[in-house]
Amino acid sequence: MASLASRSAFRAASRRTVFNASKAASKPSQAPAFSHLARATACKSAQRSAVQMSSRGIKTLDFAGTKEVVYERSDWPLAKLQDYFKNDTLALIGYGSQGHGQGLNARDNGLNVIVGVRKDGESWRQAQEDGWVPGETLFPIEEAIDRGTIIMNLLSDASQSQTWPKLAPLITKGKTLYFSHGFSVVYKEDTKVIPPTDVDVILVAPKGSGRTVRTLFKEGRGINSSIAVWQDVTGNAKEKAIALGVAVGSGYLYETTFEKEVYSDLYGERGVLMGGIQGMFLAQYAVLRKNGHSPSEAFNETVEEATQSLFPLIGAKGMDYMYNACSTTARRGALDWAPIFEKANLPVFEKLYESVKNGTETRKSLEYNGRSTYREDLAKELAEINDQEIWRAGKTVRSLRPDYKPE
Ligand SMILES: NC(=O)c1ccc[n+]([C@@H]2O[C@H](COP(=O)([O-])OP(=O)(O)OC[C@H]3O[C@@H](n4cnc5c(N)ncnc54)[C@H](OP(=O)(O)O)[C@@H]3O)[C@@H](O)[C@H]2O)c1
Repeated sequence: MASLASRSAFRAASRRTVFNASKAASKPSQAPAFSHLARATACKSAQRSAVQMSSRGIKTLDFAGTKEVVYERSDWPLAKLQDYFKNDTLALIGYGSQGHGQGLNARDNGLNVIVGVRKDGESWRQAQEDGWVPGETLFPIEEAIDRGTIIMNLLSDASQSQTWPKLAPLITKGKTLYFSHGFSVVYKEDTKVIPPTDVDVILVAPKGSGRTVRTLFKEGRGINSSIAVWQDVTGNAKEKAIALGVAVGSGYLYETTFEKEVYSDLYGERGVLMGGIQGMFLAQYAVLRKNGHSPSEAFNETVEEATQSLFPLIGAKGMDYMYNACSTTARRGALDWAPIFEKANLPVFEKLYESVKNGTETRKSLEYNGRSTYREDLAKELAEINDQEIWRAGKTVRSLRPDYKPE
């Protein structure tokens, strides 16, 4: 971590710049992309870039009547970010989807990043493909923790629990412990992940796959992430979480708690985002097929129109916009049936939230994902889905799209 003196000197300079910049511009400007190109130029002229890129990015926004603070990348121009972490080594433990996205982004931002994974495993191979060099920036897990000051635990959630007894003693005073999910520490009774009491424990949870974390960064945008503090021993934990959020490629950062992050995440993915939508698709398709509709008709009316036409409209401008874009007949019927579905689904969602909160979902996940046959078991389940009539019909429907590429 940068020394307090150098940080405050830098902050004072930044504040002056920020003040002048905000006088000049009524709206905060977006910092340029932290891409390879940005890194190359910004490393050379870091201070000049800071002057050009500074703007006041913290915002209090009104979310449907509730005021919330949102932190923005533009408060962390590259030079400030590099100065803040100039004495740090970010040790990324695990190189799955998040390790890949967060690690490459932080590296492109000019920070000192190393990767720690099982020697000669799949991640070890993948990391080398991405340019991490054994003995220089790629190490076995224990050695990376030893070398790191900020330990970013990006192992799979099940393996965070399995490896904890070996890793915990290496996370010594002065280091920072970072997660991208509240899972391990919130459900500590089940995971047994109990952080040492003398380190800051923080969270940056990107709201999307690590692949998206990377592609948005390369496009000069940035993913939305949640940030939270579990334990603040230095008094700087929150600031560090925000800075790390920016370092790994976030554009906007929303403050939450570890508990709220993990509850909403587990609930959402089991609900509308994945499990709920899969269940709705299957139920609607089954009734259509039972009533004599062909597979193509049942698929088109269930999945294709949803994903290709209507859901993108909701994403673009909201539910009323989607309604407005549809026929009067569709509108009337959908408006009448929406409350019926809401009422039918509410108890299921209540049950799901309780199952998340009381740890049932966590215990199931730890048990299943911790099995040695995990990869094969999952492959079998996904093959079964792939073989369901609805998804087989979907392949033929997709083959008729103008932009179709063989799958
Ligand atoms: N993926 C997402 O969309 C997403 C989004 C937000 C937050 N998160 C959170 O980010 C964290 C990382 O998730 P992820 O999806 O990137 O990773 P992941 O695919 O769940 O985990 C992959 C990593 O875990 C390692 N690993 C698995 N079992 C291990 C063991 N027994 N010992 C040592 N290493 C082991 C793998 O190494 P090997 O290759 O050697 O097996 C690999 O490097 C999790 O906390 C997750 O909840 C994920």
